[in-house]
Amino acid sequence: MDAIRSATGLDAGPISHVHVESWRTTYKGIVPDNYLAGLDEIARTASWRERIESGIPVFVAIQDGVVVGFISGGPIRDPIDGYDAELFTIYTLQHVQRRGIGTALLRKLASRLDADGFKNMAVWVLEDNASSSFYERSGALRVSSKDIEIGGAFLPVVAYGWPSLRTILSPG
Ligand SMILES: CC(C)(COP(=O)(O)OP(=O)(O)OC[C@H]1O[C@@H](n2cnc3c(N)ncnc32)[C@H](O)[C@@H]1OP(=O)(O)O)[C@@H](O)C(=O)NCCC(=O)NCCS
Repeated sequence: MDAIRSATGLDAGPISHVHVESWRTTYKGIVPDNYLAGLDEIARTASWRERIESGIPVFVAIQDGVVVGFISGGPIRDPIDGYDAELFTIYTLQHVQRRGIGTALLRKLASRLDADGFKNMAVWVLEDNASSSFYERSGALRVSSKDIEIGGAFLPVVAYGWPSLRTILSPG
């Protein structure tokens, strides 16, 4: 990986591409096939552009001049006791996974949220998703669970929480 930087509106298309590709490779067999087939990069590009321009933290990982991963976060949406920030999305392309890019993106977001005055962070993840190991490895604990509806299916999701952003910034 060459760099991690703040996203601009021009990154909306590449982010949308990574988002859709990563959903298809990660959630095949978990999320209904017709939902995955219907994911629309162009529609998602518009919503990513809006999110980036609204000022929420979004960072991209660049390799060979191309966006290969991204992360976004901000104030927690669905309250969890004691948590003030949320990791909204983190995705990397399959061929660059397990090379430290996710860890670098996570640190970048934690650093920005820490500077913005947040204390801790939670993330919702589909149960049985391998990314649970990624969150546990970085010091997150299972803190809540619920079901969500995706494409007509009700799927269990688990919240992982980092009790302090400092756990991510100064591991060990
Ligand atoms: C989850 C994700 C963002 C992690 O990014 P990454 O760059 O692959 O992660 P890192 O290389 O920094 O991993 C750090 C450690 O986390 C753990 N880990 C990461 N991905 C893992 C996986 N798929 N299975 C098991 N452990 C994993 C490992 O302990 C890893 O260290 P190691 O490779 O030395 O064993 C990335 O794999 C991804 O986009 N996955 C698919 C989409 C997804 O699940 N997103 C999260 C939705 S909530």
